[in-house]
Amino acid sequence: MDDAEPLPQELAPMTDLASRRAFVQRYTALQRPPSVGEVQLWLADEVTRIWEMTEQEMQQVGLDPPFWAFAWAGGQALARYLLDHPDAVAGRSVLDLGAGSGLVAVAARLAGARSALAVDIDPFCDAAIELNAEANGVEVAHTDRDLLADDVGVLRVDADLVGVDLILAGDVSYEFGMSGRMHRWLRAADAAGVPVMLGDPGRRYLPSDGLEQVAAYDIVTTPDLEESDLRRAAVYRYARSG
Ligand SMILES: C[S@@+](CC[C@H](N)C(=O)[O-])C[C@H]1O[C@@H](n2cnc3c(N)ncnc32)[C@H](O)[C@@H]1O
Repeated sequence: MDDAEPLPQELAPMTDLASRRAFVQRYTALQRPPSVGEVQLWLADEVTRIWEMTEQEMQQVGLDPPFWAFAWAGGQALARYLLDHPDAVAGRSVLDLGAGSGLVAVAARLAGARSALAVDIDPFCDAAIELNAEANGVEVAHTDRDLLADDVGVLRVDADLVGVDLILAGDVSYEFGMSGRMHRWLRAADAAGVPVMLGDPGRRYLPSDGLEQVAAYDIVTTPDLEESDLRRAAVYRYARSG
């Protein structure tokens, strides 16, 4: 393998963070999500072009949409709640699972969280989250490791989760397999003593029971993504029995 030819640049696109940062800034603009005006994020206005450009740059088809380029209704609701109720996060170390743009992690830091770890497996999230944290003058750490591959036995000793006081998850109930894994992992974390808060606009795979609604908001969304430009989205905790 020592004398293997290096991959030509066009076959190894976007392999460095600087290129991904440039891509994010080229195809998005710094904007305030309509329902979370305290936060600035690098966001796209419509999905098709940036999705096509992502596939072109990655030289792959069938990629997930660039979730990181939008402030999803569930994330906006959860971020809104944290900014309106800073006691929920002040002084805590939070983990934002399915972070996308990092909206929820950024809002948590602005609301006084001691630290925030944004977790997302999308290869562009390191750049998007770094840029978005910078735009708001806060620090947000990021990992692209798939924590859902771990079980709750690992949770207690996992280096990324040691010291996490609160888990936040905005808009993670939109796909059958992923949402099932997500909620199994989140429930296990909650049962193991790390409380979870969810933000969700009633996506198809939001569990129909075992949730306690904490707040609800009418969230202004991007009509290009949703059927309407206003969605009711709620903040939930898992219900505790007994
Ligand atoms: C609809 S977006 C929500 C983004 C953000 N929380 C918000 O509300 O704006 C869902 C995110 O979950 C991420 N995701 C999917 N599977 C994941 C996994 N196994 N671990 C972490 N993130 C995951 C996707 O990449 C995507 O960015």
